Amino acid sequence: MAARLLPFGDDRARPHQPSPIEITVDGVVAAGVAGQSIAGVLLASGRLDWRRTSSAGAPRGLFCGIGVCFDCIVTVNGDRDVRACMRRAADGDEVLSQHDTLPEVTA
Ligand code: FES
Repeated sequence: MAARLLPFGDDRARPHQPSPIEITVDGVVAAGVAGQSIAGVLLASGRLDWRRTSSAGAPRGLFCGIGVCFDCIVTVNGDRDVRACMRRAADGDEVLSQHDTLPEVTA
């Protein structure tokens, strides 16, 4: 398992043997355990950002972690604007990072 995930047995909040899952993130397989959010799987895999801002292209990832800021949005199985911190990862999920350019303003 990845370094950010506590080993089973050391984690008192998870008394049962975890079930492994795999998701793909921009085509790369990331391993997780059942019950983790998509953001949790991403962080555990060592990825700290997975979205770019529209205006400056600045990297974004987890900020609030509670579904308030929308910094963590990704596309999951074709659905855009899914908050990675609020979506439980499911085995086989296909996650794509998001970057949308600013819309053109017409007068
Ligand atoms: S990190 Fe703020 S909504 Fe997900």
